Amino acid sequence: MSAPATERDTVGVFSPGRARILARTLRQDRWWLSPLLTVVGLAAFVIYATIRSFVRTAYYAADYHYLSPFYSPCLSESCVPGASHFGTPFPELPMWIPLAFLSLPFLLGFRLTCYYYRKAYYRSVWLSPPACAVAEPHSRYTGETRLPLIIQNSHRYFFYAAVVISVINTYDAIVAFHGEGGGFGFGLGNVILVVNVLLLWTYTVSCHSCRHVTGGRLKHFSKHPVRYWVWSQVSKLNTRHMQFAWITLGTLVLTDFYIMLVASNTISDLRFVG
Ligand code: FES
Repeated sequence: MSAPATERDTVGVFSPGRARILARTLRQDRWWLSPLLTVVGLAAFVIYATIRSFVRTAYYAADYHYLSPFYSPCLSESCVPGASHFGTPFPELPMWIPLAFLSLPFLLGFRLTCYYYRKAYYRSVWLSPPACAVAEPHSRYTGETRLPLIIQNSHRYFFYAAVVISVINTYDAIVAFHGEGGGFGFGLGNVILVVNVLLLWTYTVSCHSCRHVTGGRLKHFSKHPVRYWVWSQVSKLNTRHMQFAWITLGTLVLTDFYIMLVASNTISDLRFVG
C-alpha cells in the first residue's frame, strides 16, 4: 500500500534511522531476472488454465477414459457422456461456470495461499520487496493481518480440500486404464496421467501444513515414533516444495494438453496394451 506523498519521508524504507540511499538498490547483478521469470511463468499458467477450464472442448478422450484434470470432477449434465466419474448431481451449467466448479476454487485457493507461491508473487507481482537489498515501492506494510491477505491463514483448510481432490485425481487415473474396445488397456496417456497424479501427491504432501498435521503440537517425538517418522519423510519432501510447485504446474498443462490432442483426434494415443 502506498502512503500519501506527505508521509513518504517518514515511513517504510524512508523512516528516520534508515540509511539515506537515493538509489533504489546498489545491487549490480541481474536481481530482476528471477522475479521476471516467475511472473512470466505464473502468468502463462494462469492464462492457459483459465482458457482451458472454460472452453469445454476436448477434455475427455472417450475411447480411453482420459479426463483432463482441469475438468475433474465433472458433476453436471453439461459434461460429455462418460466424463462424469461420480455421476451428474448438478443440472446443465451456463458457459461462464467451469465444469470443475467444485474443485477449481479450492485448488486455486490452495496454490494462492501456498507458502512458496506467496513468496513468488509477493516478490514478482507486488514487488514487496522484489529482491534482497532492493527497496520496495510500498511504504507501508500491514502483513497478513487484514483483508485480503488475512485469508492466507486459511491455507491448512485448502490443504484438506487438496487431499480430497488428489484422491479424485487418483481415481481418474485408475479408471483410465481402459482399452478402446473395453476391458483393460494402457497407453502413453496413462503414463502421463499417473506421473501427473504422483507429482500432485508429492506437491500436496510436501506442503508446510502437512508437516504441521503430521508432526505439529507434539511435545515429545519419542512418544510418537510413527508420527515422527511420517513428519521426517514429509520434511524431506518439504525441502523441495518449490520445485514440486513448478513441476506440477508443468505436468498439469502437459496432461491437459495431451488429452486435448487425443480427444480432438489431432493425434492418436500411443497404445501399449488394448
Ligand atoms: Fe505450498 Fe502448502 S505450503 S502447498
